[in-house]
Amino acid sequence: MVYLPLIVGFSLVAFGYSQDLELQHTLTTSDNYKDTTETVKVTAFLDLLQTSTNPSEKTTIEESSVVERALAWLVTQREADWGWRNDTPKVLTALQLWPREEAHLMAEVLEMQLSLKQMEVEIVVLLWRHHEIPITPPKLAQYCLALSGACQDPRQFHGHDLIATLLHHEPVRDIEFAYASLAACTARSHVRKKQIRRLLDIANTAKDHNIDTVAMTILALRCIVKDHRHRNLQHSLRRPCISLARQQQQDGGFGNLYNTALTLQALQDMNEINNHWNRSAAKSYIESRQDPDGAFTDPNLTAEIVFALSDRGLSHIRNLDCGKYDNDMDNHVEIDGLSKSLYPHGNDSDPRNVTVTYTLWVGANVTENATVTLTAPRNTSFYHVMQAAMDADPRFTFEASEWPNGHYVHTLAGYKEEPMGYHYWLLYRLPEVPDPLAPPANQLVAPVGVDDLLIEEGDHYLFWYKKL
Ligand SMILES: *[C@@H]1O[C@H](CO)[C@@H](O)[C@H](O)[C@H]1NC(C)=O
Ligand SMILES: *[C@@H]1O[C@H](CO)[C@@H](O)[C@H](O)[C@H]1NC(C)=O
Ligand SMILES: *[C@@H]1O[C@H](CO)[C@@H](O)[C@H](O)[C@H]1NC(C)=O
Ligand SMILES: *[C@@H]1O[C@H](CO)[C@@H](O)[C@H](O)[C@H]1NC(C)=O
Ligand SMILES: *[C@@H]1O[C@H](CO)[C@@H](O)[C@H](O)[C@H]1NC(C)=O
Ligand SMILES: *[C@@H]1O[C@H](CO)[C@@H](O)[C@H](O)[C@H]1NC(C)=O
Ligand SMILES: *[C@@H]1O[C@H](CO)[C@@H](O)[C@H](O)[C@H]1NC(C)=O
Repeated sequence: MVYLPLIVGFSLVAFGYSQDLELQHTLTTSDNYKDTTETVKVTAFLDLLQTSTNPSEKTTIEESSVVERALAWLVTQREADWGWRNDTPKVLTALQLWPREEAHLMAEVLEMQLSLKQMEVEIVVLLWRHHEIPITPPKLAQYCLALSGACQDPRQFHGHDLIATLLHHEPVRDIEFAYASLAACTARSHVRKKQIRRLLDIANTAKDHNIDTVAMTILALRCIVKDHRHRNLQHSLRRPCISLARQQQQDGGFGNLYNTALTLQALQDMNEINNHWNRSAAKSYIESRQDPDGAFTDPNLTAEIVFALSDRGLSHIRNLDCGKYDNDMDNHVEIDGLSKSLYPHGNDSDPRNVTVTYTLWVGANVTENATVTLTAPRNTSFYHVMQAAMDADPRFTFEASEWPNGHYVHTLAGYKEEPMGYHYWLLYRLPEVPDPLAPPANQLVAPVGVDDLLIEEGDHYLFWYKKL
C-alpha cells in the first residue's frame, strides 16, 4: 500500500516518456501516421495502474482509466491530414484539456501543433467557402472553443474576428444560441444584456426545454458568472440546476449518453445540489457504455464524454492560464450592468426619494396577495426595501440565508421554498403593479439578487411563490 503513490508516480512518468518516443517514431516513419505502439503503451500503462489494489484509490484510478482509454482511442482515429474529419475541433479540445497539469505541454508537442495547423486550415476553408456552404453557428462555436483551448484568440484569427461572425446572426434554436454564447464568453468577448436575458429565460423555463438545451444554457451562464460583474447572477442558476439534476432517470443517465455527458459538465462542482441527484450513478451510466476499444460510438461523442468524466468541462476553458489573462478584470464583458434598471428612468445624478410598490403573491392562481407602497432614497437595494416592508407590515416577514454574493430569500409570509416539490419564490421587477389576470412573463424575473437590485422611481416588485 505504501508503495502505491510511487507506482502511480512512476507510471505517469513512463506515460509521458512513451509519448515522446511515439512522437519521434512518427516523425521518422512519415508513411505511417496511425501509430499502434502508443495504444499498446497506454494499455500497458493502464495494466500497471490496475495492478494496484488499494481500495481507497480504486475509484479514481478506474475513472481516469476510462478517460485514458477514450483519449487513446481518439488518437488512433486521427486522419493522415492530422485532423479528425468533422470532429477536429472537438477532439483537439478534449486532447488539450487533458491531462490537467500538462495541458500546455501537450500544446507544445509537435503532433498537437500539426493538428492545430490542420484545424486552422479547416477554418480558413470554412470562411473561404461560406458563400457556397453557409457556416453554421455550432460549427463555428466549436472552432472558437478549440482555439480558446489552444490559447489562441478567436477574435483575432489571422485578422478575422470569428466571434463577431458567430454572433452576427443570433441562432434561432436555443441550444445553438447557448453554445454560441458559451464560445463567446469563453473567448472573453462582449456578452450582451439581451443575450444574458435570453439565457436566463431558457434557464427559468427549464421544464419546457430539452435536457441538452438546459445543460448547454447552464454551461453558458456558469461561464458568464465567472465575470466578477455578473457574479450576482449565481443566484439565478440554482433553481435551473436543481431542476436539471432532478431529471436523472433510474439507470443514472439523463436519457442518452450525450445528455448525460452535458449534464455532468453543467453540474460540475455544484456540490450544494448533491442531494437532488446521484453524480456517481451518472458517471457509472456513461462508463458502463464504453466500447471495448475505448470509444463511445464516434469521436464526437467520445470527446464530449472526455469533457464530462475528466472534471474538465467546456466551461473550464475560460480558466486556462494562457499567460495572457491575469484575472477576470481584464476582459471585454459589458460593464454597464444588469443591476441597472431595465427601462429608462429619470436623471441619474438626481438625489431624491423614490416610491415603489412591493407585492407578494402565493400560488399559481394567486390565492393570497399583499401589496405595500414604500418611499426610500434612490439607489437603495431591494433588500433594504424588504426590511422596511417587514418593519411596516408583518405579512412581509422574510428569512434569507447569506451567501458570499449576497442574501438568498427562502421564506416569505410564512411560506418556505420546497425544492423537493419545485415550490420557489421568484422575484420580478415590473413596469406596473402586477395583475393576477395578466401575470408577468418569465423574462421579467429580476436578473440579479436582492442586494444588487437598486430601486428606481416607478419600479414595482413582485415576489411570487409558485411551483415551477
Ligand atoms: C456531435 O453530436 C451532437 C449531438 O448529437 C450533434 O448535435 C452534432 O451535430 C455532432 N457534431 C458533428 C460534427 O457531427
Ligand atoms: C448513487 O449511485 C451509486 C451507483 O449507482 C450507488 O452505489 C449509490 O448507493 C447511490 N447513492 C445514493 C445516495 O443513492
Ligand atoms: C441631471 O441633474 C443634474 C443636477 O440636478 C443636472 O446638472 C443635469 O443637467 C441633469 N441631466 C439631465 C440629462 O437632465
Ligand atoms: C447609485 O449607486 C451607484 C453605485 O453604488 C453610484 O455610482 C451612483 O452615483 C449612485 N447614484 C446616486 C444618485 O446616488
Ligand atoms: C426622503 O425620505 C426621508 C424619510 O424617509 C426624509 O427624511 C427625507 O427628507 C426625504 N428626502 C427627500 C429629498 O425628499
Ligand atoms: C387554478 O385555476 C385553474 C382554472 O382557473 C384550475 O384549473 C387549477 O386547478 C387551479 N390551480 C390550483 C393550484 O388551484
Ligand atoms: C388580494 O386579496 C384580497 C383579499 O384579501 C382581494 O380582495 C383582492 O382582490 C386581491 N387582489 C388582487 C390583485 O388579487
